[in-house]
Amino acid sequence: MSPYDLLRPLFFKMEPEKAHDLTLKALQSPLAPRYAAIKDPALQVTLWDRRFPNPVGLAAGFDKNAAVVAPMLRLGFGFVEVGTVTPKPQEGNPKPRVFRDIPNEAVINRMGFPNGGLNVFKDNLSKFSDIKPRPNGVVGLNIGMNKDQKEPAKDYRLLVQHLAPMADYLTINISSPNTPGLRDLQKREPLMDLIGQVIEERGRACKIDPPPLLVKFAPDLTEEQQGELVGAVIDSGIDGIILTNTTLDRPDYLDGDFALEKGGLSGAPVRDKSTAVIRNFYELTKGNVPIIGLGGISSGAEAYEKIKAGASLVQVYTGLIYKGPTIARDINQDLLTLLKQDGYSQISEAVGADTKLGKKKKHAA
Ligand SMILES: Cc1cc2nc3c(=O)[nH]c(=O)nc-3n(C[C@H](O)[C@H](O)[C@H](O)COP(=O)(O)O)c2cc1C
Repeated sequence: MSPYDLLRPLFFKMEPEKAHDLTLKALQSPLAPRYAAIKDPALQVTLWDRRFPNPVGLAAGFDKNAAVVAPMLRLGFGFVEVGTVTPKPQEGNPKPRVFRDIPNEAVINRMGFPNGGLNVFKDNLSKFSDIKPRPNGVVGLNIGMNKDQKEPAKDYRLLVQHLAPMADYLTINISSPNTPGLRDLQKREPLMDLIGQVIEERGRACKIDPPPLLVKFAPDLTEEQQGELVGAVIDSGIDGIILTNTTLDRPDYLDGDFALEKGGLSGAPVRDKSTAVIRNFYELTKGNVPIIGLGGISSGAEAYEKIKAGASLVQVYTGLIYKGPTIARDINQDLLTLLKQDGYSQISEAVGADTKLGKKKKHAA
């Protein structure tokens, strides 16, 4: 039995956002747990000239203000994505705005990007980069627009101008369901225009080694929309895709009151839908645009499924709530076993193995 098995019932008695705030406080205290990361060359990933010590990352939304980057890396995550940050601080939607369906290992949130704004975020990142030695791992910065912004590109440009020099990678979040109009950017023309402006700003902000630019999509895209976005991704020069954000779906088996809450659904119920989107994007891009895969991962087998569907890296959020702070270590440990079972010596060999493209490659070998 892990210490989290004892703590979980207490956590689950608390209002979800209170439990989260308490977790952030505990992580910032000297009592925060630390686990020796699993160091194995089979788990290392090099992408965009960045070295990921392992493929398991913390997803955006957990650490919106970049306040616990070091403690999360010390739990054994290979990378952490912080944000979503907006230029101005904002409160987000009225509380309560986070809900759990415990038997189904699911969460619904309609937070609406509450965060301390760009200045707090930058201060926290500077404090992190002053830590010597810097904890091992990659730090991605996830950016979004303020709720009252009518011209999204203005906010994204401002954030890129300030944050590109501090980022190992940058994520353009256009897929949260809780900011009105945000998901409308998931169309060819608005996306091409936005990315064009962001790439220009990135070039101005970083003359040397500009951070790769990723875009995060929702799972609620039709196949036609996915096809259109793949074209835009390739034509615009986006370096990677994050698949997926939360879903607006409400499967029948969810608890009745829970299912009625507005917002994005995450955890186990989004798992298969996300995996299908990852597989489709991998096949349509012919494996040429790296994918970070997430949605309902809480075990090594579920992470491996995303990798075999085409993800080069994976992330977790809701799984951390249900499985606790050893999740990165446990997933990595299980991935090593799964790789061995399948006769792979390196994680990169498994990427896309369960897609039409992967099967063709295997056949040809
Ligand atoms: C409470 C909560 C807040 C979130 N906030 C953000 C956010 O600010 N930015 C973002 O890109 N994704 C956010 N997400 C989405 C997650 O990063 C992830 O894409 C989604 O939850 C699916 O993964 P999971 O099933 O492992 O949670 C949030 C998710 C949850 C549960």
